[in-house]
Amino acid sequence: MYNSSITGLGYYVPDNIITNNDLTQWMDTNDEWIQERTGIKERRWIDPKTDDTTSSMGAKAAKIAIERAGLTKDDIDFIIFATLSPDMYFPGGGVRVQDMLGMPTIGALDIRNQCSGFIYALSVADQFIKTGMYKNILVIGSENHSGGLDRSTRGRGVTVIFGDGAGAAVLSRSEEEGKGILSSHLHAEGKHANELALAGPSTGRWIPEIMEANDPEDISYFPYMNGQFVFKHAVVRFSEAIVEGLKANNLEKEDIDMLIPHQANLRIAQFIQKKFGLADDKVYNNIQKYGNTTAASVIIALTEAWEEGKINRGDLVVLAAFGSGFTWGSVVLRW
Ligand code: UT7
Repeated sequence: MYNSSITGLGYYVPDNIITNNDLTQWMDTNDEWIQERTGIKERRWIDPKTDDTTSSMGAKAAKIAIERAGLTKDDIDFIIFATLSPDMYFPGGGVRVQDMLGMPTIGALDIRNQCSGFIYALSVADQFIKTGMYKNILVIGSENHSGGLDRSTRGRGVTVIFGDGAGAAVLSRSEEEGKGILSSHLHAEGKHANELALAGPSTGRWIPEIMEANDPEDISYFPYMNGQFVFKHAVVRFSEAIVEGLKANNLEKEDIDMLIPHQANLRIAQFIQKKFGLADDKVYNNIQKYGNTTAASVIIALTEAWEEGKINRGDLVVLAAFGSGFTWGSVVLRW
């Protein structure tokens, strides 16, 4: 068995900043409510006049990650792309990134695990590297939420939370013992699938059916979230995933040098921080700037933390996420 470690990181967010006050042009909301309940001050939403899409943002982040890994596009053996907002219903974003970066005919896999998409993607990549099948895998998380949100007051409970952006990592084969990904832990509880979901259009509710019904009350094409229900499950599952990761490696919470939680709500991250007794410099949050970017959130935060010099060689880094599905999980890394 080989080891796998992250050799390159990159992220890309659209230039267009939408502050909490900017949202009031569309809906009845206010800066105070949003900051108090979520911690968010602003988010990036794609300017439709630009050519940013889920795939193109992913490709931009990927380019940076590949370069920082000291590799070229031709060194990449496989692409894993996590998103809930692909450019098209099908095909997914992985094949588009392959084309945009001019890569050879390597395999491209899309992951549909929403907020825990990047954790799942990294875990899949880790297995391919550990078995020796691939040497360098490009792992991307990217989201274009802004194109599909209800900007009226009706949608405010969901819309104010989400932002656009992309992050990418190169996971490479490593010969160093005890370095890189130590373990990953994946979970799901499908009975709560409808608590955070976008129901239509889908094969269960296809476009002609929606058009024929012509029901102005039908908002099944906007994301739905049972916020408080999701919140309550999130705090429990986040904690479980972190404990599981530590236990699997005979580590204690005191061993954590950096926790990167999925950026769902600053209150959730603060709850976890308190529960594990972690100092402020051991938990990285950037939801204030970007909102919740779903599959991109963990990898954007990891990249920023690393760029800011907050992650150093030998550090124990824990990534954890929870979201729609419900799905959740953690990855434990020795940097
Ligand atoms: O990333 C995947 C995982 N996602 C999460 O973990 C998110 C978990 N959930 C949450 O973070 C929170 O539930 C939210 C931030 C989504 C909502 O916060 P909340 O404290 O649960 O608020 P609420 O939905 O219970 O709404 C409280 C009030 C309601 O008014 P009434 O009924 O008390 O009069 C809402 O209508 O706040 C109102 N409200 C708003 N007011 C101003 C809801 N959204 C807004 C808004 N601006 N944007």
